[in-house]
Amino acid sequence: MEILLTGGAGFIGSAIAARLVGAGHRVRVLDALLPAVHPDGLAGVRLPAGVDFVHGDVRDRATVERALHGVEAVCHQAAMVGLGLDLDDAPDYVSCNELGTAVLLAAMARGGVRQLVLAGSMVVYGEGRYDCAEHGTVAPGPRRPTDLDAGRFEPPCPHCGAPLLAGLAAESAPADPRNVYATTKLAQEHLAAAWARACGGRALTLRYHNVYGPGMPRDTPYAGVASIFRSALAAGRAPRVFEDGGQRRDFVHVEDVAAANEVALAALAGRPAGSARVYNTGSGTVHTVGEMAAALAATHGGPAPVVTGEYRLGAVRHIPADALRLREELGWRPAVAFAEGMARFAAAPLRGADRPVAATASRR
Ligand SMILES: NC(=O)c1ccc[n+]([C@@H]2O[C@H](COP(=O)([O-])OP(=O)(O)OC[C@H]3O[C@@H](n4cnc5c(N)ncnc54)[C@H](O)[C@@H]3O)[C@@H](O)[C@H]2O)c1
Repeated sequence: MEILLTGGAGFIGSAIAARLVGAGHRVRVLDALLPAVHPDGLAGVRLPAGVDFVHGDVRDRATVERALHGVEAVCHQAAMVGLGLDLDDAPDYVSCNELGTAVLLAAMARGGVRQLVLAGSMVVYGEGRYDCAEHGTVAPGPRRPTDLDAGRFEPPCPHCGAPLLAGLAAESAPADPRNVYATTKLAQEHLAAAWARACGGRALTLRYHNVYGPGMPRDTPYAGVASIFRSALAAGRAPRVFEDGGQRRDFVHVEDVAAANEVALAALAGRPAGSARVYNTGSGTVHTVGEMAAALAATHGGPAPVVTGEYRLGAVRHIPADALRLREELGWRPAVAFAEGMARFAAAPLRGADRPVAATASRR
């Protein structure tokens, strides 16, 4: 296939580019090389030989129209990611992620491109699935700063205040985005569904869980927790684990996410016209943030993690995935197990590893 890969210079996009080129696809990358992500510009970008690189913004109609020429499917990874610093980031998140997706989809509609794989995120769920012994499945609200300040990190039952049992969120779980980035990822999904209905397109969204692996950006306010810990270890510092370290996550290796994109692209042609479907994309195994820090520190040779009790407003407590649908419908199987992936990641290069670190907003 001739594929337009937006955000293909990024952490996940570059792994997808390598995977697709390796599978014999023709890949054109469209990437704005956002300065916060690529402080060295093109010099810091590693793309496989044979990739056609277009330096441009998905919000720019003429650029997108040119980049779509001859393309059969779009793999849309471009987005501003992470929690950001504060609400001043909101216009940029909305602009890159929502406006950018709308401009791309409108150009696809005009240009007759009818196949889309979208990088979604588990952040659309807010808190994951919780069950109360008395009230069944419940949806806890955002955690209160007074509780977090007092070290009460587990969200209680919203009806009776009892402790809850955390489970696995399936695709049918209601969306409940808790921060600006999350709202933009949900909006992208709705835009993709509207586009598919309007022009007879086929859209598949992969809701990635916590992706980690080589090429991850180092610790910026926009980076994931695995790269923050990994950067600390590289600098000889102990990983600082927020809350009590018991936050449950699904850490999925970037190579497995790239493979999921490949199977999703292959599945598009068999989907009904005018349809959109979402898939949780996680390893299927649950680990805590504390376990992840310990695994990285052990392989790296220390120092051991420190649990700080700090927290970030807007961060959720538990959000592990139920990724059965992706396995059953598209035949995807994650190949990199947690222990192996973390051991490899502990020794892998990070992106921008020689840059100064910006402060990360936290409480306490
Ligand atoms: N990393 C994760 O754990 C994770 C989890 C869930 C979802 N995702 C999603 O995966 C996708 C890729 O994320 P990543 O972690 O590789 O981030 P990244 O920041 O490494 O890559 C994103 C790329 O998109 C480009 N980009 C941003 N805005 C653009 C625009 N307006 N026009 C053109 N290019 C633009 C950036 O320059 C960058 O190269 C994103 O859509 C993100 O929301 C990531």
